[in-house]
Amino acid sequence: MTDKYAVIGNPIGHSKSPLIHGQFAETTAQDLLYTAIEGPLDGFAAAVDAFRAAGGLGLNITTPFKLDAFRYATDLSERARRAGAVNAMKFEGERAYADNFDGVGLVRDIVHNLGCPLQGQRVLLLGAGGAVRGALLPFMEQHPARLVLANRTPEKARELAATIAGPISACSYAELADQQFDLVVNATSASLRAELPPVPASVFSQARLAYELAYGKGLTPFLRLAQNAGVAQLADGVGMLAEQAAEAFAWWRGVRPATRDVIDQLTIPLV
Ligand code: ATR
Repeated sequence: MTDKYAVIGNPIGHSKSPLIHGQFAETTAQDLLYTAIEGPLDGFAAAVDAFRAAGGLGLNITTPFKLDAFRYATDLSERARRAGAVNAMKFEGERAYADNFDGVGLVRDIVHNLGCPLQGQRVLLLGAGGAVRGALLPFMEQHPARLVLANRTPEKARELAATIAGPISACSYAELADQQFDLVVNATSASLRAELPPVPASVFSQARLAYELAYGKGLTPFLRLAQNAGVAQLADGVGMLAEQAAEAFAWWRGVRPATRDVIDQLTIPLV
């Protein structure tokens, strides 16, 4: 019988996961079917139960169910626990194992695909929501020289920075005025509304990479600011999307698919 996997979210029509995992299955010759499930807003657990009863072996979890999945899981990875959110589950009998590959996907895209090692680098992360929470451990594991979290509500950034040991600090956007970084990552949700976090352009003066977590939005206000400030390398989150998918696929199937073709296929030029 073909093994069943799916992504669950609401809405789900826009999801690229079926396309990505379909290609991964093809290139690794894995016999599996990967579909998209629109979960009812108040019925996540029932929808997952039904999927499991039909033989489903694993799920990706997207908005708005990452917290529901956190509660549903019987076994949480350290990454999922720290992120406070789950983006992948694996079912074995009664157990529902849960992980969160968003942060490792981001780091893998930056280090491997974009060729930008984080070790010894000065890294600025904008935002203090779920995306940053999930990225903290994977970033610190790369041993940056320092990691600064800046947020519109600085207390939230300070709270997050206090959850992990190492050269990490937090501040407001205004406090960034005389600081420079090698890498700047926009992990706020501002770009989803074509807004710009109030980051001073001076943070980019020595930066080699500006990374926008949102994908498929072209040159967002954040990327435009970075480009105008002379940053040579600009990237959006398409590589992170592919890499977190590859991590989940490897976790489920024991084989890690190559991501280059999927990334090339989904890339929208940053203009
Ligand atoms: P997610 O889980 O996607 O990270 P979230 O938890 O709602 O989403 O967090 C959104 C982040 O984007 C927050 O850091 C938010 O800043 P506040 O904590 O001060 O609200 C940030 N954000 C959203 N819109 C923004 C804007 N226009 N300018 C600056 N920051 C913005």
